[in-house]
Amino acid sequence: MFKNNGRKTAITVASTACLCMLLLLLAVQHLRVQVEDEGAKGEDAGTRSLLQDAAREKEQDAQTKKGFSAYFTKLTRSRRDVEKPARSASAEAPPAEDISADDIFIAVKTTKKFHQSRLNLLLDTWISRNIPQTYIFTDGEDEDLKKKIGSHAINTNCSAAHSRQALSCKMAVEYDKFIESGKKWFCHVDDDNYVNVRTLVKQLSQFPHTQDMYIGKPSLDRPIEATERLGDNKMKPVNFWFATGGAGFCVSRGLALKMSPWASGGHFMNTAEKIRLPDDCTVGYIIESVLGVPLTRSSLFHSHLENLQQVSRSEIHKQITLSYGMFENKSNIINLKGAFPVEEDPSRFKSVHCLLYPDTPWCPPQVAF
Ligand SMILES: *[C@@H]1O[C@H](CO)[C@@H](O)[C@H](O)[C@H]1NC(C)=O
Ligand SMILES: *[C@@H]1O[C@H](CO)[C@@H](O)[C@H](O)[C@H]1NC(C)=O
Repeated sequence: MFKNNGRKTAITVASTACLCMLLLLLAVQHLRVQVEDEGAKGEDAGTRSLLQDAAREKEQDAQTKKGFSAYFTKLTRSRRDVEKPARSASAEAPPAEDISADDIFIAVKTTKKFHQSRLNLLLDTWISRNIPQTYIFTDGEDEDLKKKIGSHAINTNCSAAHSRQALSCKMAVEYDKFIESGKKWFCHVDDDNYVNVRTLVKQLSQFPHTQDMYIGKPSLDRPIEATERLGDNKMKPVNFWFATGGAGFCVSRGLALKMSPWASGGHFMNTAEKIRLPDDCTVGYIIESVLGVPLTRSSLFHSHLENLQQVSRSEIHKQITLSYGMFENKSNIINLKGAFPVEEDPSRFKSVHCLLYPDTPWCPPQVAF
């Protein structure tokens, strides 16, 4: 089953990617494509529409463009920084609050076309142990999914396009559902993330949920530069850090409540429109730029945009999120000699799951790896 999915995943990974990163990258790519040939050959329909989107936004002032290119060039550097120790948020400190998994609202963002290829793997692995705290935000009805997790499958009714608006639409629903849930922590992950909920609980318990906390991993080594649209055609450059959505991030309830004027109801989409950046960037904008609360970095969150081979083999069980990526036959996966060979478990998530929960019925009897 995994083998057959391999190529499909290879094609689709390119079109999902981290929200922010992809759009910015495409903005840069678009400029290059223009120079070469307007034809944009080899791009799939989704990418082309993103390119058109990027073209429409090319009117933006030179400063924004400069920000995009700088952002792009810094990516390489930030990949090398993956292993740097975090400024704060080490999982070793004594707890500030005694929380359990039940206090966390984990939002998994997906889209209907990935229910088979990506979501089932998560449902078979980490979600199977964490159904009460996991909510899946998608864009289509799926009776099989409903049978598995009932009301925790949420059809956002957002567009299935990978557009900035569609992504923000989902984040807006995630936010509203979290507020409604009354839980202490909001965590967002993508459908290519493995979440180690035990280490997540450990990390979040270091902070009171009433305090302003925004935890995740920035994808660059400097703040993003964007342009805020004020009324009457005025623009203002803004700089802020954001946690990359593809690695997962968490927000305390105390802070989430303060975000309400910019995030609740339809406000999140308006805010995203104002700075014309994708959902994860918009969260960073509201928290850092509007509310003045700094991002707390954690090196325990991982997206497929970093070199996952750099995650130390002996520390895999200590990470909070993991990811995988496949593109043009090159896979970006963690280095784990686990229960299953790469051919049977290309994402390595099944092997990770057996490492963390060896009592899982489908895990092979424990052997020394
Ligand atoms: C999506 O639409 C259905 C049918 O109209 C509705 O029941 C559901 O509540 C909507 N979802 C959200 C998140 O608003
Ligand atoms: C990927 O590998 C398959 C089989 O090994 C090959 O047929 C295909 O051309 C390769 N694709 C790329 C983009 O390299």
